[in-house]
Amino acid sequence: MKIAIIGVNGQLGTALRHVLTRHTLIPLDLPEFDITKPTSTQQLVSLKPDVVIHTAAMTNVDDCAKNPQLARLVNSFGTQNVALACLHSGAEMVYISTNEVFDGKTDEPYHEYASRNPINPYAESKFYGEEVVRHLLSKWYIVRIAWLFTKKENNFPAKIIRAADKLGRLKVVTDEVGNPTYAPDCAEAIKKLIATHHYGMYHFTNSGYCSRYDFAIEILRQTGRGHVPVEAITSDFFERVSVPPKFSPLVNNCGIALEITLRSWQEALHDYLKSFD
Ligand SMILES: NC(=O)c1ccc[n+]([C@@H]2O[C@H](COP(=O)([O-])OP(=O)(O)OC[C@H]3O[C@@H](n4cnc5c(N)ncnc54)[C@H](OP(=O)(O)O)[C@@H]3O)[C@@H](O)[C@H]2O)c1
Repeated sequence: MKIAIIGVNGQLGTALRHVLTRHTLIPLDLPEFDITKPTSTQQLVSLKPDVVIHTAAMTNVDDCAKNPQLARLVNSFGTQNVALACLHSGAEMVYISTNEVFDGKTDEPYHEYASRNPINPYAESKFYGEEVVRHLLSKWYIVRIAWLFTKKENNFPAKIIRAADKLGRLKVVTDEVGNPTYAPDCAEAIKKLIATHHYGMYHFTNSGYCSRYDFAIEILRQTGRGHVPVEAITSDFFERVSVPPKFSPLVNNCGIALEITLRSWQEALHDYLKSFD
């Protein structure tokens, strides 16, 4: 298949590029390809993709809170441009969304069809992205993920290791709960999904969930830093521009029905840490 990956230089885009090697890939990203420009629609149509995997987004949640209009331009209108290109070219679309479309005011992990209620500007802009995809297209997959980490990025595990080594002690919140998602595992699941043509909603995070505190403890344990003291705090301790949902783990039911499963986040973390230096 001819597959366009938008946001190909990002965490997930890079992982997708590595797993989709048997396909003809069309790698797209800034500055040459900007989803906010209406011309991107024509540009994408002219490339005649069979599938478009749209990972590009304004992903810094605090920047989205400071500039919600820009967040909507990139994450909502930009997604609309991509969806229109898929409409006009007949391509299937995979839109990558987030656990943050849920408000976190529950004590059960969210299934694929749970009611959405975004509580911050990033989440709202991604919610509108989901809406345009669902309304404009018939051949769509929406894949929600959370707490992405991968080898090259400045992500949570990397920050915890650096802070532990620099400060010798940490403070981490217990009241933000989600699913760590190792980008290569998520990319592999997306590869399997697009082979099914079974359109719809999917949750592709690593299995299991934890608080940020639990995640930090496991990172330290697996890297031989279990002696580093970690103080459990709540989010009241920090003033944050963007407020994340407190309890927003996702559960994968639909993927499992198609025999697409992701291993536990602890196993994925182990793999990630093997290559960490
Ligand atoms: N990271 C997470 O923890 C997380 C959690 C849940 C859901 N998600 C979703 O998962 C997807 C992938 O996340 P990620 O962490 O891989 O993102 P990322 O590393 O931030 O990569 C996003 C890529 O999109 C590009 N981009 C930004 N604006 C663009 C535009 N106007 N036109 C074209 N490309 C543009 C970025 O370029 P620049 O770097 O030059 O800006 C970057 O290469 C996103 O849709 C995100 O909302 C992420």
